[in-house]
Amino acid sequence: MTAHLKIDGPDESNRLDGMAQGVIHTPADRPEGALKVTGTATYAAEWQLDGVATGVLARATITRGKVVQVDVDAARALPGVLDVITDSRLVRNPAQGMANESPVQEPETVSYFGQPIALVVAETFEQARHAAHALQIRYETEDGAAVSPEQSEDIDLPEGKQVAQGDLDQAMGGAAFTVDQTWTTPGHNASAMEPHAALAEWKDGKLTLHSSNQMLKYNRNEVADALGVDAEKVRVLSPYVGGGFGSKLGIGPEAVAAAIAAEKLGRPVRVVMTRQQVYETVLHRSASRQRIRLAADEDGRLLGLGHDFTVYNNVGEVFSEPVAQATHFTYPAAHREIVHRVATVHRVPTGSVRAPGESIGVTVFENAMDELAEATGIDPLDLRLRNIPDRDPESGKPFSSHMLAEALRDGAARFGWEGRDPKPRARLEGDWYIGTGMAAAVRVNTVMESKARLCLNPDLTAEVETDMTDIGTGTYAILTQIAAELLGLPLSQVTTRLGDTDLPPGAGSGGSWGASSAGTSVYLAGMKLREEIAQKLSIAETDLTLKDGMAIHGNRTTPLSDLLDGPLEVIGHVEGGDAGETVRQATYGSHFAEVAVNRHSGETRVRRMLGSFACGRVLNEKTARSQCLGGMTFGIGMALTEEMLFDPRDGHVANNDLAEYHLAVNADVPQLGVHFVPERDPWANPMQAKGIGELGICGAAAAITNAIWHATGVRVRDYPATLDKILPYLD
Ligand code: MOS
Repeated sequence: MTAHLKIDGPDESNRLDGMAQGVIHTPADRPEGALKVTGTATYAAEWQLDGVATGVLARATITRGKVVQVDVDAARALPGVLDVITDSRLVRNPAQGMANESPVQEPETVSYFGQPIALVVAETFEQARHAAHALQIRYETEDGAAVSPEQSEDIDLPEGKQVAQGDLDQAMGGAAFTVDQTWTTPGHNASAMEPHAALAEWKDGKLTLHSSNQMLKYNRNEVADALGVDAEKVRVLSPYVGGGFGSKLGIGPEAVAAAIAAEKLGRPVRVVMTRQQVYETVLHRSASRQRIRLAADEDGRLLGLGHDFTVYNNVGEVFSEPVAQATHFTYPAAHREIVHRVATVHRVPTGSVRAPGESIGVTVFENAMDELAEATGIDPLDLRLRNIPDRDPESGKPFSSHMLAEALRDGAARFGWEGRDPKPRARLEGDWYIGTGMAAAVRVNTVMESKARLCLNPDLTAEVETDMTDIGTGTYAILTQIAAELLGLPLSQVTTRLGDTDLPPGAGSGGSWGASSAGTSVYLAGMKLREEIAQKLSIAETDLTLKDGMAIHGNRTTPLSDLLDGPLEVIGHVEGGDAGETVRQATYGSHFAEVAVNRHSGETRVRRMLGSFACGRVLNEKTARSQCLGGMTFGIGMALTEEMLFDPRDGHVANNDLAEYHLAVNADVPQLGVHFVPERDPWANPMQAKGIGELGICGAAAAITNAIWHATGVRVRDYPATLDKILPYLD
């Protein structure tokens, strides 16, 4: 049986509220949690197969040019070395590209320093690493490669991404208040805890790939494309993923290289990236330069807004950081201009990292709004509340649901924003200037095609099966909860299997669409099973209550097991439809932060931080909250420490490990408050739930840098706000 839904319009039926099991929304533990914290969940690199050889990637030491020759013989002669793979299919796949956006470099062309060139395979990791370092590669070098956007002479303005409505220049000229400033944000590496890894094994012409990936149905096709084989010959397994944050949306060179080598050698091959390789060869978030212009009337209402930015990518790559993704619809203004520029730069390619677009776009825009608040003398919270649109200001579409004002008010009340003295540098406690700041959070919401199998057995166990992944987000937990709720079973009787392309193709984890997409596929299957059960009782599904293995209808109670003479199985299948075109769908929130800036060192400490978020129905309070905690923590890093540094001579990543690339760590993170604003979005899906994976980072850094201004009077417009950018302005 199948249950299919194309989301064309709102679903007001709100059935989940009528269910009796009562497990939806509860902070249920992750079913796989114990495996993870005891080290018994098997990650890609940890699979034990007989006769595994180890491959180590050898990488380019020039920025741009061609590989002329690889001295394979010398490397092969080293102890333990089995082979040196220089297959052009490996070179052609230089970085994790989003599905259908695979990198397109020509074979043997080097386009960035650190690009994979070859795979050295040996009996042990140490032997392979030794030989990879010793491998002699001869290049023909092309001089003058642009390694920064400032050097690049190749700047594209992609069609369909530019906006010009009204006359912004005129609005700026006639406005009571204006802001016109430029910000820069640095490159960000996803920095997942688990480095990229693949273990490939061929049997009977079929490849099994244990990998660490986010979107298996696409990844399987990518692997097949890269190898030139049918997708049916490829099975990808990623049941546990130690974080992806965008960097594992697509396959990487480790997967292709392992597959080629395993086929050639006739034995399994494992390729695990070192941390340095993750920084140097895996896609990163482009650095950006963003000019924001705001024109407002006497009352702080926006008349015009401009967002003109430059991001970059490598030659031939189609992805470009969608910096203005939320600018299109967050604030109303008749005069609007968005200029989206993409420079070609010979750095490791860029791609999706932790809320591509809004992470840095909302952050910078919210800094500009803070400057407008200062200029107008209007409280920053009030300024946002005066600029809540009643429909998508660019397209005129209605919003599916719009909770920005509610989230702003909720956060403000919980944080204690009211009565704040707007004057900067007005509060000194000992050696520390204290300040508070706030920002809006905005992130688009989407649904992706997704399938799941739900099977109900006569012994009242149930299984959810899909190739959906759980990249640390809580997918195992929420899919289990949805199935248990609809079938009226305790959580312990439902098992969820994920991360295997032999299972029905799911949406994959990306763009915050996992809960909404994979969740709805399970919901649809569960509703169909309820209909089947109701039919056996000759009642309407809406009159059926399922709880703890009992079917309750009217004043009768029937054990569910009495109604099952065999397993009942349904494939749930959801697809995006017209809803995405008809309405503007997004999630909203607010961030509030209090910082202390040391008057002698310029060092900033976040003292407290609070976020209030609206994401439709919350499916699991614990995992949703954890997503927001993670996003806000990344916001602290983005504000204060996180930055990729590229060597200005050859473009290589200079800070290529966790010691030099400064993510926020425990000591940087105070107690964080996460709150949810009750919301149901009937346009999202029948569960009325939206995504929450990425909202927590969007705008978070702005609350902190706005607080730094309030504490010190210093506007840092060059992220991150390290102490050297503040200290010169302190007394
Ligand atoms: Mo996300 S950055 O789409 O994994």
